[in-house]
Amino acid sequence: MMPAGQLPFSIPEAIVGRLSAARHLTALTGAGISAESGVPTFRQAQDGLWSRYDPTELASPQAFERNPTLVWQWYAWRRGIVDRAAPNAGHLALVALEQFFPNLVLITQNVDSLHQRAGSRAVIELHGSLYRTRCSREGKIISGYSESATPPICPECGAFLRPDVVWFGEPLPAEAFERAAQASENSDVFLSIGTSSLVFPAASLPLIARQNGALLVEINPEPTPLSDQADYALVGPAGLVLPALLDALRAARQTPRS
Ligand code: OAD
Repeated sequence: MMPAGQLPFSIPEAIVGRLSAARHLTALTGAGISAESGVPTFRQAQDGLWSRYDPTELASPQAFERNPTLVWQWYAWRRGIVDRAAPNAGHLALVALEQFFPNLVLITQNVDSLHQRAGSRAVIELHGSLYRTRCSREGKIISGYSESATPPICPECGAFLRPDVVWFGEPLPAEAFERAAQASENSDVFLSIGTSSLVFPAASLPLIARQNGALLVEINPEPTPLSDQADYALVGPAGLVLPALLDALRAARQTPRS
């Protein structure tokens, strides 16, 4: 039996070789990377948010129109969970990878800011952030507002404020997606980490990378629709696989090539 906390496989040489030679590394993360920080994912059967809550009641413009107080409170509850969480070994390994790849582009579907709190520099947020609030009428990001009403009221126009997150039926921020697609296209190696690969257009990014010649590596304890299309599916939690990948890369960089 493997000791707890150790991967039952080593990182394939071919991945390490491609990473050692790569200039552009792009990573896409989903809720799974924050699971080991105690932040619930969406689609896991036991404790995924969408197994306990109905997204149409909480994460759509119609839901906010029907019951803005409930929607605001639900996001405030999620922000509370994230406030008490800390970045885990997976987040930290992605920060450390920036030593090898100063241009590393980290694209996330997460709204929890744990990558930024870990210290990642260039994070592209595809689905917004729990830590930004915007006017539901004019879209402007608002920071100084009174919490006395739920939801709070826009100090400029009097409309309700809402979390600056992407809801079902809403488009992704165009500029963020454009940058993400560009980075995917330019990548030599693309890591798809902790995402069920079910939600588009984010799920199209690994495919763009693969079509343009990147080595596509998935990191996930469970199979996803992407697994068969990836060059490698590393089956395990991000908090173990990413540090192992980092160690393997460090070892390869220290070993002079013959
Ligand atoms: P999901 O909940 O759909 O998928 C989470 C994935 O993480 C699953 O494939 C798990 O197997 C995997 N996972 C669990 N623990 C893990 C670990 N320790 N290490 C690595 N992987 C692990 O979450 P997302 O794919 O992020 O959108 O969901 C995409 C979008 O759907 C979210 O951004 C959200 C949701 O509706 C919006 O709210 C707009």
